[in-house]
Amino acid sequence: MFPINKIRKDFPILSRKVHGKPLVYLDNGATSQTPIQVIDVIVDYYSNYNANIHRGVHTLSQEATDKYEEARHKIQAHFNAKHAHEIIMTSGTTESINLVAHGFASLLKEGDEIIVSALEHHSNIVPWQMLCEKTGAILKVIPMNDAGELVLEEFNKLLSEKTKLVFVNHISNALGTINPIKEIIKKTHQVGAAVLVDGAQACPHLKPDVQALDVDFYVASAHKMCGPTGVGMLYGKEAWLKKLPPYQGGGEMIAEVTFEKTTYADLPHKFEAGTPNICGGIAFGAAIDYLNAIGLDNISKYEHELLEYATKKILEIEGLKIYGTSKNKTSVISFNLEGIHPYDVGTILDKMGIAVRTGHHCTQPIMDFYKIPGTVRASFAFYNTKEEVDVLVEGIKKAKMMLS
Ligand code: ALA
Repeated sequence: MFPINKIRKDFPILSRKVHGKPLVYLDNGATSQTPIQVIDVIVDYYSNYNANIHRGVHTLSQEATDKYEEARHKIQAHFNAKHAHEIIMTSGTTESINLVAHGFASLLKEGDEIIVSALEHHSNIVPWQMLCEKTGAILKVIPMNDAGELVLEEFNKLLSEKTKLVFVNHISNALGTINPIKEIIKKTHQVGAAVLVDGAQACPHLKPDVQALDVDFYVASAHKMCGPTGVGMLYGKEAWLKKLPPYQGGGEMIAEVTFEKTTYADLPHKFEAGTPNICGGIAFGAAIDYLNAIGLDNISKYEHELLEYATKKILEIEGLKIYGTSKNKTSVISFNLEGIHPYDVGTILDKMGIAVRTGHHCTQPIMDFYKIPGTVRASFAFYNTKEEVDVLVEGIKKAKMMLS
């Protein structure tokens, strides 16, 4: 049995009240909560060995460097990367994507094609539009259907020898759809192009194996995975990372500097200019330990039960429509009440202690597809319960009554 009661005790925030009501935190798609095991690591870092890394001969610096590099190895093992130097520490998914987009500016030429999916977050649309402006490359879009799934037959038609890059999220943040990335990667490689998978929403729910997927780039953020904000990772195949130029210039990314010429450091340091988020990186490693101790398979199974229960209960509410109805989806329910603005529903739910996200979820093209201004999104994590689902359902009913 999933040890839900024990798990909930790990999260101090879950016992706080909001507007006098017990917090029901259902905004995990935006950011996950942090267990005490990770909070302790952050406190330990600042209490005992706060120092800059890769730079000092003194004990504190060496301790911090060891812990930071240990975290990189934990991330490598978690994602099953072949080498630790294929893991670049970044400030998060957005920076990881921008790093790759920046690098490809020197590899693309006018008329080359980049494919993104209709299900992308703005962070996986805007950098590629900027890249197209810079290079004259053309952006193509894999369309979606009413269920919120990608139309793969159309994707096949978009692929050609002009395709240089394909970008797709592993799981849609707005709808929860799990995309068939293995198939997309295989098809893309047949035309000789590279694939970047945005794993921000997937990593809290499943464990990607980058070698089994044969993906070229995979990106994620720690704060969606029980870690802190401001830190994330880029996995890149060694050959690709060697080919891409550095993203930012600065300390620690160089081999030698003179006023005539600078040579760059080896991977991963070539992409890690300046002092990184040291504590964040170490805490990212601790978050991965925490998730693995529970087991991503166990998490996935529990969340699936929660999703089935919540979907059934929520659909009993008259006038409620769920957006994103793929069979292959994770624990996200995006919905609207007929004739009621999502913002109003979210505001009333907050008064009952229930945290959901409302709006376009940084996916305006998805909202345009459905011709709606936004949705109410309840996104569940492994520390949520069926009792919390019941509180949500009662809250929606009450909001409906007040707003109708
Ligand atoms: N991308 C995050 C979300 O979906 C912030 O809410």
